[in-house]
Amino acid sequence: MTTKISKVSKNSSALNVEWSDGEKSNFNFLWLRDNCPTAHDKDSNHRMFNLLETSENIQPSDYKINSDGKLEIKWSEGNHTSYYDPNWLRKNCYTIKQKQRYVSPYKLWNNKLNSDLESVTVEHDKVINTEEGLIQWLNLLHEKGFAIIKNAPTEKKSAFPILNRISHIRQTFFKTPFEVINIPKPNNSAYTAHGLRNHIDLPYFEIPPGYQFLHCLINDAEGGMSHAVDGFFVAEYLKKNDPEVFNTLVRIPVKFIDKDYTQDKKRLFYAPEISLTKDGDYNDIRFSVATMGVMDCVPEDIEKFYKAHHKFGKLLHDDKFVVKFRLKPGDIFCFNNRRVLHGRTEFNPNSGHRHLQGYYIDRDEIIARLNYLNKADF
Ligand code: OGA
Ligand code: ZN
Repeated sequence: MTTKISKVSKNSSALNVEWSDGEKSNFNFLWLRDNCPTAHDKDSNHRMFNLLETSENIQPSDYKINSDGKLEIKWSEGNHTSYYDPNWLRKNCYTIKQKQRYVSPYKLWNNKLNSDLESVTVEHDKVINTEEGLIQWLNLLHEKGFAIIKNAPTEKKSAFPILNRISHIRQTFFKTPFEVINIPKPNNSAYTAHGLRNHIDLPYFEIPPGYQFLHCLINDAEGGMSHAVDGFFVAEYLKKNDPEVFNTLVRIPVKFIDKDYTQDKKRLFYAPEISLTKDGDYNDIRFSVATMGVMDCVPEDIEKFYKAHHKFGKLLHDDKFVVKFRLKPGDIFCFNNRRVLHGRTEFNPNSGHRHLQGYYIDRDEIIARLNYLNKADF
């Protein structure tokens, strides 16, 4: 669709554009000069033009819609003329963009997903061999934050090829893959036969890994059921039903720590249990009882914080929200580690073996790959 400019006028800081369909745009002079189509290198797509070489008072000395229908601006400085495609101007107009309602990409879920787990499964070979399968998996990861890959191989380290369909791995001190197996003197409670309360991994990092992949190789011990809960759903429930608790969890930073005996590092990071994006959508859930440090917020907040934390924790383990399933060898339990909390019930190591291998990938990689495959234009 070609959108036509019907009128252009100038004020002291911007050009005002009226469009043939009645929409109106305002294009600031510095914004226009900064976004001249010649500003970018065609290979790197990096801006080569340096706005700092112009004064802050730069303005059009002349402007018109030329015979090609482009907005042509001759600048007061730098002996330069810019030609803007009206479709580009319309698509990038900040006035019109700001009027559009934000639509969240997230599809929130609760325990009803228990009866429809099929809807989040994808066949391993379909992802390996087809772009359709890859996109289906990426969409599940992005929208639901949860997917189960079925019929993957069960050899050690055999999840690399499917994960590399997305991107490189996020490395951590647990190494890749990390071995989720019952060992003596574990440096993480996951490496025991104990049950694990619902948690995110590595909350003591400035940016905890965006996605986690638990590849089941062996699971024939009694117990060891997997749990998953959509932290965004629970946050939304609190926002609607107990906004004071919600606001407390968004406002008060929590101390998370790691100082296990195998490391020559000690980690500490403060962040709230719920964080939001610039659009007010959900960004992160950071919740892990095991790695929460000794809280040291201002004394006026401690009671408020603990009550809110207690309520959030209860809801994150409430049967009305939690999905429960049993991983089979060849399953890869994939989830947004900063949204979907995971846990497990205890297992009996004397009754059989249980071995998962874990991997992380940053959230940027999932979103960037989807953008590329969907030919996103921005
Ligand atoms: C982990 C973990 C869950 C499980 O390794 O971080 O939470 O099912 N494991 O063993
Ligand atoms: Zn974990």
